[in-house]
Amino acid sequence: MIGIDLVFIPEFQRQLDASGGAVLETAFHVSELGDKRIEHLAGIWAAKEAVIKARGIEGTRFGDVLISHDDYGMPRATVADQSYAISISHHGEYAVAVAQKILS
Ligand SMILES: CC(C)(COP(=O)(O)OP(=O)(O)OC[C@H]1O[C@@H](n2cnc3c(N)ncnc32)[C@H](O)[C@@H]1OP(=O)(O)O)[C@@H](O)C(=O)NCCC(=O)NCCS
Repeated sequence: MIGIDLVFIPEFQRQLDASGGAVLETAFHVSELGDKRIEHLAGIWAAKEAVIKARGIEGTRFGDVLISHDDYGMPRATVADQSYAISISHHGEYAVAVAQKILS
């Protein structure tokens, strides 16, 4: 399965502000917060949503999905013992991500 998500960055920013930090604490891992640019965070959010869609929507929470980047900046996702290939892009007010499970 593959998944895709598109984030409207101003709305994402509004949700972060309204949560008073709760969204960052519950949905993001500390290691995902090293780069605080809003477009970067929106890309990670889109990647998590894309992984959740690729997994079939039910049973996976945002905090269950860990997004990491290799030394070249290429992202990937892990959920428990499963890995997902990720691609993220952002421009202007939008961030988008796609995810596909890596078959072992
Ligand atoms: C890195 C690159 C692919 C980003 O593309 P872009 O059109 O400028 O920007 P996009 O918004 O489409 O994509 C940005 C996202 O791509 C992802 N990305 C970064 N490096 C990547 C890579 N090597 N491979 C795959 N994805 C990468 C990240 O998720 C990044 O989001 P972030 O900036 O929030 O971390 C592009 O700048 C490029 O090809 N550069 C040439 C190679 C380069 O400079 N590499 C740098 C490391 S040596």
